[in-house]
Amino acid sequence: ATDIHLGYLEKDAIRGNDTYDTLNEILECAKTNQADFILLGGDLFHENKPSRRCLHSCITMLRKYCMGDSPIHFNILSDQRVNFNTTQFPWVNYQDENLNISIPVFSVHGNHDDPTGAEGLCALDLLSASGLINHFGHSQSVESIEISPILMQKGNTKLALYGLGSIPDERLYRMFVNNKVTMLRPKEDQDKWFNLFTIHQNRSKHGPTNYIPEQFLDDFLDLVVWGHEHECLITPTRNEQQLFYVTQPGSSVATSLSPGEAAKKHIGLLKVKGHKMNMQKIPLKTVRQFFIQDVVLADYEDLFTPDTPQVTKKVEDLCYAKVTEMLEQAERERLGCPLTPEKPLIRLRVDYSGGFETFSTSRFSQKFVDRVANPKDIIHFLRRREAMDQQDTQVEDLVKQYFEAAEQKGQLSLLTEQGMGKAIQEFVDKDEKDAIQELITYQLEKTQRHLQARGVTTEQDIDAEVREDSKKNTTEEDNEIREAMNRAKAHRLERGDDSVDAGISDEFADVNMDSDEGSVPFPAPTRGRGRGGRGRGGRGRGRGELS
Ligand SMILES: *[C@@H]1O[C@H](CO)[C@@H](O)[C@H](O)[C@H]1NC(C)=O
Ligand SMILES: *[C@@H]1O[C@H](CO)[C@@H](O)[C@H](O)[C@H]1NC(C)=O
Ligand SMILES: *[C@@H]1O[C@H](CO)[C@@H](O)[C@H](O)[C@H]1NC(C)=O
Ligand SMILES: *[C@@H]1O[C@H](CO)[C@@H](O)[C@H](O)[C@H]1NC(C)=O
Ligand SMILES: *[C@@H]1O[C@H](CO)[C@@H](O)[C@H](O)[C@H]1NC(C)=O
Repeated sequence: ATDIHLGYLEKDAIRGNDTYDTLNEILECAKTNQADFILLGGDLFHENKPSRRCLHSCITMLRKYCMGDSPIHFNILSDQRVNFNTTQFPWVNYQDENLNISIPVFSVHGNHDDPTGAEGLCALDLLSASGLINHFGHSQSVESIEISPILMQKGNTKLALYGLGSIPDERLYRMFVNNKVTMLRPKEDQDKWFNLFTIHQNRSKHGPTNYIPEQFLDDFLDLVVWGHEHECLITPTRNEQQLFYVTQPGSSVATSLSPGEAAKKHIGLLKVKGHKMNMQKIPLKTVRQFFIQDVVLADYEDLFTPDTPQVTKKVEDLCYAKVTEMLEQAERERLGCPLTPEKPLIRLRVDYSGGFETFSTSRFSQKFVDRVANPKDIIHFLRRREAMDQQDTQVEDLVKQYFEAAEQKGQLSLLTEQGMGKAIQEFVDKDEKDAIQELITYQLEKTQRHLQARGVTTEQDIDAEVREDSKKNTTEEDNEIREAMNRAKAHRLERGDDSVDAGISDEFADVNMDSDEGSVPFPAPTRGRGRGGRGRGGRGRGRGELS
């Protein structure tokens, strides 16, 4: 399973228990099916710092389902100090003599629950330290990555489990292009292993380098379990170029009302024997239903045009009919599924371009309060081509307003609104306390240098110069902010903080930092082959070897 997003909307009066109910279902399912282990592809938690309730529920469920004295039937052959390096107990939880584990859980971290702060810890590390899960795939270096598999054996079947926790896509993309990502392979019996890789990155292309193309991944892999993408595409599909399979389990809760989230949600029961595998799709019963439809008002010429009398009322009636239709479908499909929550999520996207007007959605939502889980945002008005994902700009917009107000009073002209927006975003998202201070220091020092160079001394001149200087174009400004954020990162590294992912957002994360290479422990590495050359796509090469 992946992207469980525990704690998502936990305060919602209707949906508050959804993520908890579904994690419970997933764990129960693993127990019923006597799974050897549970593999999670990141974003177990929705919040980087989960609430007390969230951690408490999670711990309770893991303890309930994953502890016990039923025996574990597989062995770990790799060096566990390398595989499980994030706690002082670098061994798999089920081999800890003080714990009785019946189902070990292995998880990489996602972008929601990624490591932050001076210690570079994430919520999964709390669970790891308490022996409830095994957090793996946390790369310590910004410069290059060596992925060392957990080597498992059950009977004659050998499984090499590779994992890589979430890394900003652009940075990882660059590392792949520069051949800085190495997947180590066992030296002995290389062909005997079933190679499974868990990754938490964008799979679909968002920007030129804002995703990881499947082709970047090594072709010795047998199966890739892809996290982060929420649409359930769990049936393994074959990549014809690399000849491996990819399964995308998708999230177990809808965290946005977009079409991908409306696909029926599943988890998978993967069986591996030798090199053969079989993936059984298991539909999740506790997941709230979600229906989405689009309505283009301009397509209803027969019924109304913008000039029709009382057209807005007619539009509202049409929307009412559409929503009612979806509700009836939801009810039919829910028959005989007692675990499925009663009220579905409903989204109607209304394209009102062509001169139509919107109607009051608050009045509309009143009519569905008792039947829909999200009455307040059933209707989404949009005009064609309107970008659907605008959430990220919210904080920056806020700062912009603040600066516009401040600008009128002649204050704060030292700081650029874009820079401040970024810094605050880091602060809010990642609890990165240094981001704002770094930016202020940076822009202050730069202004001071500028004033010195210009030989400015009087207060009036300073004011004029600063105003002039703050009229930068966006390219200059981008560069400045990037440099300030890099400085924040450099200072963190100097302080000995290796949580290099903390607080640096994707687009500002640059790699020209001191290298951490060599700091990832590795038993007598044999890195002979394939390290220098690019060689992507060549078959049968070993990029690195385990001893
Ligand atoms: C969540 O579960 C608790 C405990 O069963 C219950 O008291 C509470 O009403 C539920 N909340 C929601 C939003 O369903
Ligand atoms: C684990 O379970 C076994 C079998 O029931 C028991 O003998 C052992 O004492 C338990 N270990 C711990 C640490 O509880
Ligand atoms: C995936 O792409 C989106 C859109 O460009 C971006 O905001 C997000 O940070 C990317 N995800 C990761 C894990 O880098
Ligand atoms: C912005 O400033 C940079 C650096 O001074 C310059 O190279 C670039 O041409 C400018 N761009 C615009 C659109 O003015
Ligand atoms: C994990 O590995 C790093 C890099 O070798 C090392 O500095 C660190 O002490 C290790 N952490 C633990 C908890 O063993």
